[in-house]
Order: sequence, then C-alpha cells, then structure tokens
Amino acid sequence: MSVDATGAATGAARVNPNAPTEETVLAVEHYTDRLFRFRITRPRSFRFRSGEFVMIGLPKEDGRPLLRAYSVASPAWDEELEFYSIKVPDGPLTSRLCHIQPGDKVLLGKKPTGTLVLDALLPGKRLYMFSTGTGFAPFASLVRDPETYERYDEVIVTHTCREVAELTYSRNLVADLVNDPLVGEMVEGKLRLYTSCTREPHDHQGRITDLIESGKLFEDLGVTPLDPATDRGMICGSMEMIQDTKALMIKAGLTEGSNASPAEFVIEKAFAG
Ligand code: A2P
Repeated sequence: MSVDATGAATGAARVNPNAPTEETVLAVEHYTDRLFRFRITRPRSFRFRSGEFVMIGLPKEDGRPLLRAYSVASPAWDEELEFYSIKVPDGPLTSRLCHIQPGDKVLLGKKPTGTLVLDALLPGKRLYMFSTGTGFAPFASLVRDPETYERYDEVIVTHTCREVAELTYSRNLVADLVNDPLVGEMVEGKLRLYTSCTREPHDHQGRITDLIESGKLFEDLGVTPLDPATDRGMICGSMEMIQDTKALMIKAGLTEGSNASPAEFVIEKAFAG
C-alpha cells in the first residue's frame, strides 16, 4: 500500500485522479519582506483560463498536502505557471513557501476555477481591474492575455497598497509589457496602470473606494465616470475591499456577473494563508 498526495491510502490500482501533481520551482523573486513571486513547471495537461485560481501547496511532515488557493498570475498561453504571494510569518503555508528555491517541489491542484474571467463579463468598451495587495495576481494573468485587448478598447488596472515598495511587481510587469512579443503592440495606448498608496506618499494617494467615490480616479485618468453601457469591472482584494468596491459598482448601475450568467462586473477574494 502507498499514500497518494491527498494522504489517502491507495492500492497500486487506486491512484487518486484528482491528486495534485508535483511541480518544480523554476524561479523565485522577493519584493519585500511580505511579498514574492515564483514560477513553476506546467504540466501539459494543466489547462486554465487567464484570471482563474488553483490550489498550490507543500507536503506536510506527515505526508498530507497543505494546500491554499492561489490565482495564477501567468497568462493561459504561458508554458510555465507564475504565482504572486504574500508571506505571513505564522501562516501555515506561506511561512514555508517563502523559503522555496529553484529545483524545489511544490504541489499543483488539478482543477483551476474562478470568476475573474473574460467570459463572465458582457461585451463592453472599457475594462477596469480593481486590485489591492496580492489581489493584483489574476490581473497579472489577464493583462498578458491578447484576448483582453481583442475584447476591449481600453484596459485600466488599479493597484492600491499600503507602501510604494508593494507596487514593484505590478509596476515592473506592466512597464515590461511593451516589450512583450505577444501583447507588446496591443497594450500600447490601451493599457493603463493606476497605482495608489494609503500609508506612504505616492503619485496617487488613498483607497480605491475613496478615489472612485470622489471621482478623482476618473479625473486623473481623463475618462467619464462608470457607465454600465460601456464599462466592465473586475475586483480582487480583501473581503472588505471587495464589498466596498462592489457597492460602488452597484451604485453606478453595474450588475454582478458569473460564469453561468455574465454581466457587468465580477469579484474574487485575494487569497492568503
Ligand atoms: P489602508 O491602508 O487604508 O487599510 P492590506 O495590505 O491590508 O491587504 O491592504 C491593501 C490595501 O487595501 C491598503 O492600501 C488598504 O488601505 C486597502 N484597503 C483595505 N481595506 C479596504 C477597503 N475596505 N476598501 C478599499 N481599500 C481597502
């Protein structure tokens, strides 16, 4: 008898088809003492839509896996998988995951899913992606997907963090996109990143909710306020941020969509643990 990756006892003939696969860490980059990204191998059979999340983990000492949901930060076409993670000093998974090095193994779930996907939105002209903290991760996937630019005339990503250093990942990623062989030409004039900080001086200051409510976001961007006829929204951040931003979408006349029933905005919690 052996033990499979779910910790369940298996006979040789009873391999769990849903058990996570073991993947190899290819690269790790640390941004602050709270944030890092890592890239891993992608099995040929692993299919997902840009913006979805999947379970990622490490085996525990007793052999059972410790898994948490992570948004895939790389686009669906990429041969590797990228993840953007918080480090929680006493977090069961991230306190260990933050020490991974190239060559190490991590577990990858087999069932990516989620609502921050282009198919959950009705067609529109301008797509907003509102994020705080590691909530930027699914948008790191979507801004690298050509389909995003095929569907929208304008793509505006907002990223709000406490401190300027926490914006490094999003700022570098978007700045480098103009040189991307696949989407480089598509992003020019279409994609804009709007960053704000809440606890340190920065070009833009304050919570995204306050910037929407006061109209300052739209003034700064030189666009008309939210309009359900043209604008679509995706929201990813803490539970509170989602609820507060969602309330502003509803106030502007947008309705929440899902995979089964596409509409004008969609939400997903930023995962941590
Ligand atoms: P603030 O500094 O005012 O709390 P965190 O690091 O706690 O996940 O927060 C990431 C960013 O999200 C911070 O800039 C934080 O602002 C902001 N934030 C926290 N709660 C909300 C909320 N309810 N609505 C909008 N932004 C929020």
